[in-house]
Amino acid sequence: MHFHSGQLGFLLPIISACLFASVESKSSEHPRSAFTFDQLWKLEKGFWDSFLYPANLKQTQGNASTIFASDVQGRVDITRTFDGDELNREYIFGLFADPEHVSLVGVPIAYNITQFTANDNIASATTVVTFNATSFGVLIPVTIDTWIEFNADGKIAQYDATFRWFEYLLDFLVEGVATKINATEPDQAVAYVADLLATAICDTHEQHCTGSNQQYTDTASCYDFLTKTVRFGKAHELGRNTLLCREVHEHMVQYRPDVHCSHIGPGGGGYCVDDMDYMQTVLQRYFNDSWIPFGYGTDQNIWLAD
Ligand SMILES: *[C@@H]1O[C@H](CO)[C@@H](O)[C@H](O)[C@H]1NC(C)=O
Ligand SMILES: *[C@@H]1O[C@H](CO)[C@@H](O)[C@H](O)[C@H]1NC(C)=O
Ligand SMILES: *[C@@H]1O[C@H](CO)[C@@H](O)[C@H](O)[C@H]1NC(C)=O
Ligand SMILES: *[C@@H]1O[C@H](CO)[C@@H](O)[C@H](O)[C@H]1NC(C)=O
Ligand SMILES: *[C@@H]1O[C@H](CO)[C@@H](O)[C@H](O)[C@H]1NC(C)=O
Repeated sequence: MHFHSGQLGFLLPIISACLFASVESKSSEHPRSAFTFDQLWKLEKGFWDSFLYPANLKQTQGNASTIFASDVQGRVDITRTFDGDELNREYIFGLFADPEHVSLVGVPIAYNITQFTANDNIASATTVVTFNATSFGVLIPVTIDTWIEFNADGKIAQYDATFRWFEYLLDFLVEGVATKINATEPDQAVAYVADLLATAICDTHEQHCTGSNQQYTDTASCYDFLTKTVRFGKAHELGRNTLLCREVHEHMVQYRPDVHCSHIGPGGGGYCVDDMDYMQTVLQRYFNDSWIPFGYGTDQNIWLAD
């Protein structure tokens, strides 16, 4: 059979339109916009600049984020997944915004990006962030690996963060406490930290979780539950049924007690619960957009939501 070039020319737009349509609907929930390396570097720096204290305070205020897309999806390996702008601003910025408040790592005061590569609308970076761990009286470097996808407006559509060496960090903090209190047994330092955190959480409960938001009958039963009933938690258990998880969520209670009080309560409110095992955590299908630039690898990306 023989086609005139005119006939083929008529078919081509239809074929390419079909191809584009199928790529669009399969690989991306957000309109993709390809950025240059320079633009992605600036977007990455913009995020970390806003993460530092006291710039992060501004991100906890107001209705809409300059950083996150309204329907942002986020995951942090030592905790769990977090949906939407409001929750993510409370979590990413609000968690590290008060140097006076008891906390594990305190407030971020400086950062250095040590590894960075970017393509399309996705950036991957390693950032060493110096935290002023005011509760422990040390400046501590924390290494955070991030993957960030930006939407067409340059806002974060998805992020996936890993706290590198977090178990080592936790051990380091506890060892510092052991030295400070002249502990003769390892458990003493953990008990000291548990007392510090439980006292802070129960104070917050007392202050903000009243009426229908109340989780514990009184401060004594709160303290008792947090130091005796629930486990302290390992480095990967900041999103499980532990004291460390309740310490994370305690910082968010002040923003929306109706949402966050249950997370520090005995039931864990769906956030401090043992709902997923190792296999489920590692194989969780969560993200709506692919993490591989230019539409590559869609056949094997097991982290994409169905
Ligand atoms: C911001 O939130 C306040 C109270 O929550 C509301 O009154 C106001 O209309 C909101 N503004 C915008 C621009 O959505
Ligand atoms: C992700 O996809 C699910 C299922 O289509 C949808 O319900 C959800 O709103 C999407 N989330 C985002 C952030 O796009
Ligand atoms: C990172 O860089 C800044 C400025 O270049 C510096 O002040 C800071 O101390 C560095 N180190 C860390 C670990 O943040
Ligand atoms: C760390 O925080 C303490 C207590 O707020 C403060 O006195 C100290 O100056 C801070 N250190 C740095 C390097 O910001
Ligand atoms: C720990 O031991 C040192 C030196 O023996 C002492 O000066 C300090 O007061 C002790 N600290 C505590 C909390 O017991």
